Amino acid sequence: MTRLLLQGGRLVDPASRHDGVADVLVDDGRVAEVGPGLDGTGAEVVDCGGLVVCPGLVDLHVHLREPGREDAETIETGSRAAALGGYTAVCPMPNTDPVADNAGVVEMVAARGREVGLVDVFPVGAVTLGQRGAELAELGAMARSAARVDCFSDDGLPIREARLLRLALEYTRAFDAVIADHAQDASLTDGAQMHEGEVSAMLGLAGWPAAAEEMVVARDLLLAELTGGRLHLCHVSTGGAVELVRAAKARGVRVTAEAAPHHFALTDEAARSYDPVFKVNPPLREKADVEAVRQGLADGTLDAIATDHAPHAREDKEVEWAAAPPGMLGLETALAVTLTELVEPGYLDLVTAVERLTAGPARCRRLPGHGGPVAPGAAANLAVFDPAAAWTVDRARLASRARNTPFHGRELRGRVVHTLLRGAFAVRDGRATR
Ligand code: DOR
Repeated sequence: MTRLLLQGGRLVDPASRHDGVADVLVDDGRVAEVGPGLDGTGAEVVDCGGLVVCPGLVDLHVHLREPGREDAETIETGSRAAALGGYTAVCPMPNTDPVADNAGVVEMVAARGREVGLVDVFPVGAVTLGQRGAELAELGAMARSAARVDCFSDDGLPIREARLLRLALEYTRAFDAVIADHAQDASLTDGAQMHEGEVSAMLGLAGWPAAAEEMVVARDLLLAELTGGRLHLCHVSTGGAVELVRAAKARGVRVTAEAAPHHFALTDEAARSYDPVFKVNPPLREKADVEAVRQGLADGTLDAIATDHAPHAREDKEVEWAAAPPGMLGLETALAVTLTELVEPGYLDLVTAVERLTAGPARCRRLPGHGGPVAPGAAANLAVFDPAAAWTVDRARLASRARNTPFHGRELRGRVVHTLLRGAFAVRDGRATR
């Protein structure tokens, strides 16, 4: 295996609290040495002057559509999009066809991820059989399988029945797994098309009230408290939900939470275009919610930025608003949206932003070798990016098989230059190596 010297970059490693210029020597897939002025004899020297070197990004929430909708995305195209976004680990949700609710499917997803080899793929198992919400899936069998599932979710759908969520939180304590919930009271969102507020009233589109998310967040937090189980909240999008998580954390509930870039970068005003690329679940919220999500990420109430990368085939998504499925792409733009929308305006400093994309999400799960620290002996899963590079998002040039990015045409700052998975280039000079 190659010996590489990443030379002269700004090493931002939240797990070791390192922020400053340092070389990183990589040998045989691992970090061999970190420090100033390392000797590069026998190593390929990679000039990182002016660039940030950090742990590879970790995405707790993606949809890779395989098995079942390979016309929208595959584990291969999704892995490539992830690597180009600076990710070295992604966690695909189980709402595939068939649903990833048994050892066979999660093992297939993990094995395909390994075969592609561009990022580590840690599948999330379904909580209920077929995500139907009626009975628990075999969580233990998925945890013991070769895929070693440590997180379960019915994402795309909420766990409607409190009793089942309670059982899942209790049962998974035995193997310290996490239940990740998509908080949505379906009885309040039946037929909903967008966030309920002034804009939905103007447009005459059925609304998804913030309360539909907040009620379920409150319920979930109470059940986490009751059971002592580990709860993770997916795509937190309202100010009220952020406040509920903040209060629960203050009283010691075992909860972690994520926010998606579109929820801190866009508002429900985007729906005025009637362009279904802006339709997502939970929906784009109001300015005050966006502000609250930003504050939640800043103070650590929200542990992680997760993309909810949701590719949809053109013929499904490019239809009238009401008929379009919810979801937007995120993997190739998340870092740049974070830098442009959170770091540039001063909500988060660069180190905190990197934390929410790396060590923060890694802490929410067991993802060996990811999230840092960048220290001798650790797997060399690293991202190198240019924080100043400006670029314009062009949906035609994405590696994802789908085209539904809400950021098409937007100028963003921050571009991934290299991504290393166990010391091998998955992305080199902005191009995927495979
Ligand atoms: O917008 C969304 N799309 N939200 C979800 O929860 C599921 C996702 C999908 O699978 O398309």
